[in-house]
Amino acid sequence: MFWRMSKPKAVTATINDQVITVEPKETLLQAALRQGVDFPYSCRVGGCATCKCRLLDGKVKELTRSDYILSDTELDQGYIIACQSVPRSDIRVAVAQGDGLALRSVSGRVVARESLTHDILELRIQLEDSLRYKPGQFAQLSLQSLPGLSRSYSFATSVRPDAQVSFFVRQVPGGVFSSHVHKQAAIGDRVTVAGPVGDFWLRPADAPLLLVAGGSGLAPIMALLEHALAQGVTRPVTLLFGARTRNDLYALAAIESLAAEWPASFDFVPVLSDEPGDSSWPGARGFVTALMRERTTPDCHAYLCGPPPMIDSAIALLLECGVAKAHIHADRFSTQHDLPATA
Ligand SMILES: Cc1cc2nc3c(=O)[nH]c(=O)nc-3n(C[C@H](O)[C@H](O)[C@H](O)COP(=O)(O)OP(=O)(O)OC[C@H]3O[C@@H](n4cnc5c(N)ncnc54)[C@H](O)[C@@H]3O)c2cc1C
Ligand code: FES
Repeated sequence: MFWRMSKPKAVTATINDQVITVEPKETLLQAALRQGVDFPYSCRVGGCATCKCRLLDGKVKELTRSDYILSDTELDQGYIIACQSVPRSDIRVAVAQGDGLALRSVSGRVVARESLTHDILELRIQLEDSLRYKPGQFAQLSLQSLPGLSRSYSFATSVRPDAQVSFFVRQVPGGVFSSHVHKQAAIGDRVTVAGPVGDFWLRPADAPLLLVAGGSGLAPIMALLEHALAQGVTRPVTLLFGARTRNDLYALAAIESLAAEWPASFDFVPVLSDEPGDSSWPGARGFVTALMRERTTPDCHAYLCGPPPMIDSAIALLLECGVAKAHIHADRFSTQHDLPATA
């Protein structure tokens, strides 16, 4: 007697109200994009959580660990990462599609590139059409001179009436896209900006704000603050900006002018982790997280942006200080290098 292995079958996925087919071994995100569903995504490799959605029914196999990127609350609520989830049965998921702002691809040209530090430059792009986003969100950038590649970068300003957008791009050693931007992107180059993506933006509330930025993670924080000032937000602000040395600090004049105009208290503290001991730096030294402890109150709402290790230790510290998980918002600037190994 022969037992035949049953061939894996396609299943269906209901995404909000849309029903699609998912082929065997296909991830939910691959199937959704193949069938033209407006599904939020960015890295496609489990590193940014943009594609998170809530599993309402059915089973999925996870290709990588999602506890790395999702909060405990999200895990309890059944959130999954669509780009890392292969359905094992018919499933039903709920996803925030564009958060009310349609995901669009808009072309533009580089109109300015200004060095902010030895390894961070501001790339200003004139778009052909305006792109609406919530300050704090990010976009997928692609360059005509680097076909087939795109990377996530956070908008560094709030939405401008002249349809210009800015990004702070740090050159990652060995990084393909960021090195190309630094060494080869020129004024006039064609760029495509696809967005908005991400759920890092300022939630309405009255609580004091604790903003923590590391390196190029200052970009979304600046956008968020600029917008909040224009909106008349009057919450007390503490802004901690972590950098390696004095040469890695930037946008200080812009922060000072924001602080001067801010209608409530605005405490700005740059903190350097690798500044030589014998330098004349009069300010704070050490890791930004060490400074957080004395400035965190349990009622504050925290917005964190920067490299994953900084975010992870900042979140652990905030929880230890009694800040509610729901009041901690974080954007990890992950690269391929930061991702966990595939299970
Ligand atoms: C939501 C989000 C927002 C972001 N916003 C910003 C921003 O505003 N500004 C900014 O500067 N960056 C931002 N980033 C990071 C950005 O998207 C890129 O990841 C970064 O610029 C590096 O891209 P790259 O192509 O230069 O590097 P890649 O070529 O992708 O390489 C990145 C690093 O990983 C290493 N690496 C690559 N592949 C491997 C591998 N298989 N094994 C081991 N190491 C490897 C490389 O050597 C390099 O060190 C953001 C990321 C996310 C997820
Ligand atoms: S698109 Fe799925 S985690 Fe980034």
